[in-house]
Amino acid sequence: MPDLIPVITLDGPGGVGKGTISALLAEKLDWHYLDSGALYRLTALACVEKDIVLDAEHDVAAIAENLAVKFLPQGGILLEDNDVEALIRTETAGNNASIVAALPMVREALFKRQKAFLQMPGLIADGRDMGTTIFPDALLKVFLTASADERAKRRYKQLIEKGNSVKIADLVNEIRERDERDMNRSASPLKAAQDAHIIDTSELSINEVFEKVMQLYKNLNQ
Ligand code: DC
Repeated sequence: MPDLIPVITLDGPGGVGKGTISALLAEKLDWHYLDSGALYRLTALACVEKDIVLDAEHDVAAIAENLAVKFLPQGGILLEDNDVEALIRTETAGNNASIVAALPMVREALFKRQKAFLQMPGLIADGRDMGTTIFPDALLKVFLTASADERAKRRYKQLIEKGNSVKIADLVNEIRERDERDMNRSASPLKAAQDAHIIDTSELSINEVFEKVMQLYKNLNQ
C-alpha cells in the first residue's frame, strides 16, 4: 500500500544531481522537500563544533537526536540560530557526513525527524536510503546514477565557478572513497530499491532528467 501522502524518493550517490532535480520537482508539484543529506551534514558539523569524535557512536547519536535545526522556507538552514548553509556544503562537510552516516544509532536517531517531513500535499525525499528504508511505500522511487568521473567533472565545474582551486584527480578520489563508504556500510547502505526506476544521468542535462522523472510521475496518474 503506498503512503496516503504521496512521496517521490530520489536516491543515488553524491554529486549526481539529486538536490537540483528534487528542488525542481518540489517547486513544480508544490510539495515539501526533505534534504536528508543535510541532516547528516548538520550532525557532523555540530560534532566538530562540540569537539566530538565522528565515530563516537553514542555521543554522535545524542547530537543527532537533539539537533536544533530549522530549514527556512526561503532557503538557508539554521543550526542553533546560526545560518550554516555554506558551512555544510563543503567537501569536508560531505565526507564528515558520510562518516557519521555509517553509525546505526545515528541513522536511528534521524529516522523520526525524516518521517516528520511527510506532510500534505506530498514530499520529494532526497538521499541514499529514502526508497529502501525511510519511505519504502513511496508512490514513485527513482535512483540516479552517473560515473564517478562524470560526477567529479560536474563538481569541478561548480567549484571553479565559485572561485575555488581544486584538482579534478582529488575530487575523483574523494568521490570514490565516499561511494565506497556509503555503499558498504551495514546500516541502510546506498543502493537502489528493488522497485526503483534507475536513470543514468551521465549523458543527460538537468532538464532531461527532470522531464524523465515528471514523465514517470505522470504515467502513474494515467
Ligand atoms: O547527499 P549529501 O551529499 O548531502 O549526503 C552527505 C552524506 O550523508 C553522504 O555521503 C552519505 C550520507 N547520507 C546518508 O547516509 N543517507 C542519506 N539518506 C543521505 C545522506
